[in-house]
Amino acid sequence: MSQPILVFDSGIGGLSVLAEIRKRLPHHDYCYVFDNARLPYGELEEQELVSGCVSLISQLVERTHAAIVVVACNTASTVVLPALRAKLHIPVVGVVPAIKPAALLSKSKRIGLLATPGTVKRHYTHELISQFADDCHVELFGCSELVMMAEQKIATGQLDIARLTQILSPVVDANLDVLVLGCTHFPMLRDELQQVFGQGVTLLDSGEAIAKRVDALLAHGKNVSHNSEYERNSSLMQGFYTKAEISEGLAATLADCGFSTLERIT
Ligand code: SIN
Repeated sequence: MSQPILVFDSGIGGLSVLAEIRKRLPHHDYCYVFDNARLPYGELEEQELVSGCVSLISQLVERTHAAIVVVACNTASTVVLPALRAKLHIPVVGVVPAIKPAALLSKSKRIGLLATPGTVKRHYTHELISQFADDCHVELFGCSELVMMAEQKIATGQLDIARLTQILSPVVDANLDVLVLGCTHFPMLRDELQQVFGQGVTLLDSGEAIAKRVDALLAHGKNVSHNSEYERNSSLMQGFYTKAEISEGLAATLADCGFSTLERIT
């Protein structure tokens, strides 16, 4: 494996970002690290998030010689990026909720942010809103249960659509025309969310923007090989997780995604 792109999340949500990056950079090698022992991150205190993520990611960077780190988790991105950038000597890309494009796209100037409780309460998010969506009513909705529903859908193929509809009814009633999926788990529920909100609501996530950013950084990096230099036409994928064990369904999904190895780290 040569200088992989390391994608990090609390759970399976970052796979939505990894898929977008792989569309642009199909020949690169990838490591996917998910901290499922401490999931959901939306419920953790800031200090615990920072120290846990920095320690886990630096350990993996050292081990895999990653070229770049993508923190494919909105909750972690609201707090860990400064500490991570101070510690690592490679580019670190975080996820920013698509507030700016949502505000530009909205005709009714009523937009929503669907995220975790951690993300909706953070200063980072409120700054983003006052900077880019000052002219909009922004409905904030933080919910960790949706994160766990996305995890369950991937592990079992099951989703309780009645429960999803019930959870989201206050957001549906807010009459929005654009909804930001401010948690990387939520694109995994895109079809069901579209069903609940109807076709009149545009759902926006940040996956494509992150992929563009990674591509640009690799293309301009001085000590990083860009995919166009690769002669082989496939990529190697390694997965790392932190929980004692993972379900068969999740292991099967990861194998379907192309992971050749899956290893527990502590
Ligand atoms: C969570 O672990 O609570 C979700 C991660 C995210 O915000 O993307």
